[in-house]
Amino acid sequence: MWRPDEQAKVKAFLRLVARELADEAVAFAGVDDRGEFVRVEFYKGGGLAWAVEARLIRDESGNIVEVEPRERAGVVENQWKFEVLNSHFYNSPSAVAKRLTGLEVLSRLPEREVEWARRVFNMFFSECPLTLQLYGFFDRGTGEYVITRPDTPSPWINYIGQGGYGGFVSNTGGGYSFDRDARSRRVTRYRYNSVPDDQPGHYIYLRDEDTGEFWSPTWQPVKRELDWYECRHGPGYTRISSLYKGVRSSILYFAPPNPPHPDCPVELHVLELRNESDRPRRLKVWTYEELSYWDATADQTNLDWAQQIVFSYVKDGIIVAGVHFRPTRTFFASSEPPDGYDTDRETFIGPGGDLSKPQVVVVGSPAFSLASRGNNIASLSHRVELKPGEAKTIVYILGITDRPELIPETVNYYRSLENVWRSFEDLKKDWSQFLGKLRVETPDEELNAMINYWNAVQCRACLYWSRFVSYYYTGLARGIGTRDTAQDTLGVVHAEPQQVRRVLRTLWGLQFKDGRTWHLVFPLTGEGSMGHAVEMPWRPQWFSDDHLWLVYATCNYVKETGDFSFLEEVVPYQDDKSGASVWEHILRAIDYTLRKRGPHGLPLIGFADWDDTLNLDHGSETAESVWTGMLLCRVLLELAELCRARGDAEGAERFEKLHREMAEVINRVAWDGEWYLRAFDDKGRPVGAKGEKYHWVSLITQAWAAIAELDDPEREKMALLSAVKHLGTPLGLRLMRDPINSKKSGPDEVDYESLDRFGGTATYPPGLKENGGIFNHANAWAIIAAAKLGLAEVAYRIYRQTLPLARRDFDTMKAEPYVYSQNTAAPEHPMYGLSRNSWLTGTASWMYVAVTQWILGVRPCYKGLKIAPCIPEDWSGFRMTRVFRGVTYHIDVKRVGRGNKVRSIRVEGRAIEGDIVPLPPEGVTSVRVEVELGE
Ligand code: GLC
Repeated sequence: MWRPDEQAKVKAFLRLVARELADEAVAFAGVDDRGEFVRVEFYKGGGLAWAVEARLIRDESGNIVEVEPRERAGVVENQWKFEVLNSHFYNSPSAVAKRLTGLEVLSRLPEREVEWARRVFNMFFSECPLTLQLYGFFDRGTGEYVITRPDTPSPWINYIGQGGYGGFVSNTGGGYSFDRDARSRRVTRYRYNSVPDDQPGHYIYLRDEDTGEFWSPTWQPVKRELDWYECRHGPGYTRISSLYKGVRSSILYFAPPNPPHPDCPVELHVLELRNESDRPRRLKVWTYEELSYWDATADQTNLDWAQQIVFSYVKDGIIVAGVHFRPTRTFFASSEPPDGYDTDRETFIGPGGDLSKPQVVVVGSPAFSLASRGNNIASLSHRVELKPGEAKTIVYILGITDRPELIPETVNYYRSLENVWRSFEDLKKDWSQFLGKLRVETPDEELNAMINYWNAVQCRACLYWSRFVSYYYTGLARGIGTRDTAQDTLGVVHAEPQQVRRVLRTLWGLQFKDGRTWHLVFPLTGEGSMGHAVEMPWRPQWFSDDHLWLVYATCNYVKETGDFSFLEEVVPYQDDKSGASVWEHILRAIDYTLRKRGPHGLPLIGFADWDDTLNLDHGSETAESVWTGMLLCRVLLELAELCRARGDAEGAERFEKLHREMAEVINRVAWDGEWYLRAFDDKGRPVGAKGEKYHWVSLITQAWAAIAELDDPEREKMALLSAVKHLGTPLGLRLMRDPINSKKSGPDEVDYESLDRFGGTATYPPGLKENGGIFNHANAWAIIAAAKLGLAEVAYRIYRQTLPLARRDFDTMKAEPYVYSQNTAAPEHPMYGLSRNSWLTGTASWMYVAVTQWILGVRPCYKGLKIAPCIPEDWSGFRMTRVFRGVTYHIDVKRVGRGNKVRSIRVEGRAIEGDIVPLPPEGVTSVRVEVELGE
């Protein structure tokens, strides 16, 4: 058993760590029944924040000689006896805010305990199953990600809104809002890539009238050090709370899902103030919203015009901003009558001032300025007097409409707190319904946190905002991506089939009669484009994959829902508004790729394939993509399966034959001995071939070989293992090797030859993005391939390596740990480990699919739910609750032996043949499934 002297050491050490890392925490430590393991747990905000287990290895006399991170097996069965080490640690936020390194903790321990503690410490930092709270942690009780200090390495954002009115909010209140389209219907401004960063936002200033001191409860923009700070990002809402000299404040940001009138959407900022000091407080409160002209491009580029046409007025406490020539109005109001306002930015800020010390706040009284041109803001001022213990709530209402007559009614509605809280409940209900469609319980707590909350939240954000609006996407340049949105549907179709149907309809409407589609579209105007290709008119003006992704996503939708009627729906073409059925659209898409084939019989690459930067064609239309051939193979198999499900054997055979033919071509011309080539350039030279200087092995063709089912399992396996061998890093697989320019003679060498040969890839530095970076999106495909090939440990290892919630190196990673980033810098780059372009990435939906359908192996198919797990050997099993075609399946998988062979499946207690759980009889809405796994 755990000896008392050992216990004392653990306690001493934990106290130190806890005091530094948590502002309020309860720590437990325990030893298991057999005295072999120690486990320590930290609770914060009502939930387990993190825990770690270790095996105690003793010498013959029973002294601990080693502390080893505990293996995962058996966690569930063991009985733990816990004792409270120290309740409610409380320390000053300035200490929390201080950056802490392991060495600092160790340096405070008595010398003789350092070595022992170092081992425990290393264990915490490398093995603890939930994020250590240097900047924040996942709250298992609420599902929120809690950020405990404002100065995160980059703004850690969240989205509000349900795809209509919305925007993003950072952990310090930065961000902006718009209605549906950030370019064409902008509400507020945001200055990207500026100093200071992440401004402006939805700001509040508080001022103590007795001392004249002022601060921002969200830290920005005043940046006065707060006595306590916490940001809780939840699905569809963010709450930022803080304490400053006895004044506690909390601001809840969300967009109500059902405003009283759909033509007048709003967002709400609910400010709650509480006097926690023992003296009466006289406070002043100001808001700051910097309003944009609705056309955000003109707002930033045509200053001479945009700055002359805008004006604002105030009526009944409502600030309204607009122009003379159309009725579009932005408005801002509060639940409490204001005692003043400002709508002119320059007056509010004052000469030479900035957002950290606006003149109005410094002076302490509103200037009642009205912008009659220039820069419009919405600043309302309130006086709040609070006795000790007293609290006050003010609701702020920000919105946009083309029907100004709806503004008073909408504002009045949200002036009632009852309506506000009801709206918030509606929002929470909507999200919990969405998240409730698929829940998992596995031995991996971080996997559970991602699948049950943040990965799913991110999938929905991608569906709503595609690659349009984020901290990285400015909302001006690119609109909704066809291939991106098609892939985004994969992660949400089980939860929002109707929404996906609508999205697919819109995407099919981007197709031309010849079969190709627009690459991008602006959602509000319907204006399509070929994106980046337009800048290089000499290159092919089409992408080889956009239209195929639409076929893939459509088959996936029908498989999930059984809604074959969608295939009959008539959808217009871009160049023929009378349109045709979705099925006809599908056939045209396939024919386009079959028509556009090159010298080796592979699909032409066009401007690019999935990799936007692989621009191999200079206009001759001869460069070919091996990967597009693989995508085509997958899509053909999906179509064959769809035909069979519809009873169309002839159609199925046709697609199967086409699949065999393309697989044969790929195997004949693109096998390079140990892996598959990536492409052929327009001089017929292979890309991704052994012996090349740059780009001699590529990830995506190795992953897709298995996904495409090239009829050669040996090669498929060898290809994937080659990728793992040559492209692996501790943070996931690189997209290719060697990166272009990684062998330059010096910084001034310009490699025109590679630039000409590879196009966009060569513009990135070695190890970043598509130039050999760790591209997370493609890692999800590698996981799927590994699971398809039965390589459970490989699949799980790649999953863990790329899991943001498992990262501890926040200062290196910089991006949010609760969502996937598109890419992480590879070891070839000096900033190895830096993750960029978080939130809006195909990684979200593909990782979600990789885990739920391939590692956990619960896959929709036409006849029912297939159960084919591919889980690590040391997992004892898992549970999943999943809605499929209106039926809730409660699936309990238990490992009874080694390997991942499904030994038996019982449905409602009765054994079934095969591994497909059929749909239950009409009227049955819940089905219990027990699965035994292993030989
Ligand atoms: C980005 C783009 C996506 C593309 C990928 C690879 O994620 O949004 O469309 O497929 O990069 O280039």
